[in-house]
Amino acid sequence: MGLLTQLSLLITDLDHTLVGNAESLDRLNLILDRYRQELGTKIVYATGRSRESYQGLITSQRLLAPDALIAAVGTEIYLADSETPDPDWVSKLGINWDRAEIVAIASRFADLESQPQSEQRPFKVSYYLSPSVVAAVVPQLQELLSQQGLDVEIIYSGSRDLDILPRGGDKGTAVQFLRDRWQIDSIETVVCGDSGNDISLFKYGTERGIVVGNAQSELRLWHELHPVNYHYLAVADYAAGILEGLKYFRFVE
Ligand code: GLC
Ligand code: MG
Repeated sequence: MGLLTQLSLLITDLDHTLVGNAESLDRLNLILDRYRQELGTKIVYATGRSRESYQGLITSQRLLAPDALIAAVGTEIYLADSETPDPDWVSKLGINWDRAEIVAIASRFADLESQPQSEQRPFKVSYYLSPSVVAAVVPQLQELLSQQGLDVEIIYSGSRDLDILPRGGDKGTAVQFLRDRWQIDSIETVVCGDSGNDISLFKYGTERGIVVGNAQSELRLWHELHPVNYHYLAVADYAAGILEGLKYFRFVE
């Protein structure tokens, strides 16, 4: 009791972060649901999935309804139950973005295999790419895109997925946008992730950050190279890792 810090906003990735073990997910949900009722804690999911793919996931997982959904690696923000992305966020992403041109440039790389149509979004172009050629392909792709004046972020996750997004359209920038909208301090905010597309969650602000124990090498490496006392690498996996981090930061007893 006493000395606990108010948890005003919890932002978590879904696949292999919040979702991965049903028993620990249930345990964490009980706490978050109570915090939401007693303290007004807001819960946000930040996923690489499209909203459609997210809706598929919630049919098989016991997830609390979020206060907002950050989808498509940050390029879409859905507040509460809204079916359309937040227009203020969308209007920020259209600058220097030419989807057709990006697809045309990427098609010159035989190693880039297009992801399914459902994951191709207005501000997200996604491929599969073998880890063995990432170091060769990504710098060349970046170079060709910037020669065309396209200011994009290329994000590689889980040794498989390559996303091209408008610069400033990632999960981390979306979090800053929501904190600003809701006027929530970074000290009362927690971000949680496991893979490359979560690095931006840890990169911009001073939110408390939890890297789950099962994190992928790209996020682990980033975490090792950027040590700060407001980030924590958990021992436990998935939701149990989030709970461990919440205790470490004294949000939970
Ligand atoms: C999710 C998305 C996929 C994306 C990946 C990494 O799996 O469905 O399109 O490439 O996250 O961001
Ligand atoms: Mg993940």
